[in-house]
Amino acid sequence: MMEKKHTKVKVAIFASGNGSNAENLIEYFRNHENITIALIVSNNPEAYVLKRAHNNNIPHRVIPKKLWKDEDFTHGLLKEHDIEFIVLAGFLLLLPGWLVKKYDQRIINIHPSLLPAYGGKGMYGQNVHRAVIAAGEKKSGITIQYINAEYDKGDIIFQQGCPVSGDDTPESLEEKIHELEHKHFPVITEKVIREVFHL
Ligand code: GRF
Repeated sequence: MMEKKHTKVKVAIFASGNGSNAENLIEYFRNHENITIALIVSNNPEAYVLKRAHNNNIPHRVIPKKLWKDEDFTHGLLKEHDIEFIVLAGFLLLLPGWLVKKYDQRIINIHPSLLPAYGGKGMYGQNVHRAVIAAGEKKSGITIQYINAEYDKGDIIFQQGCPVSGDDTPESLEEKIHELEHKHFPVITEKVIREVFHL
């Protein structure tokens, strides 16, 4: 077997929906010397992220909701692809405890608000932006965090804010947030992986 230092760190992205962040990560790491996006996993067979994976020739699989907690099945899939690091990019299911333990400090997530504000159950996608606007906030932003067994409670790695203006709609705020995510998520992901694997 080849020594670790000669192989790339294999990353899986978990995503439930559109997958613009997933595609942005695929693009960023496409010719990376140390890191590769080796698998895209979704709980949603209709998720557009699967089409993006297909178009980019990245292995992709659907895990039905009832099988996510099944350690043999889910861990089996990750082992089959030698996955060492997991990135959640718009992934809507809570991860099972055994997975969080197995990948301790090796799972990161992006959230479209400045946590702890607008986190927790039900706070995803446009729900977040609607709540931010309804509360009259002047500022929102993104949070990149480690994952623990609770929604949106892992240690924060990085945050970046953006202004919310009076005429912002959930759609326009989402656009601003996506711009921030696309700019920072790959860079921070790379930084974390380099630290974890001493690259
Ligand atoms: C992003 O805003 C992310 O922060 C949140 O879900 C959204 C996913 O967007 N967790 P996309 O599917 O990557 O376009």
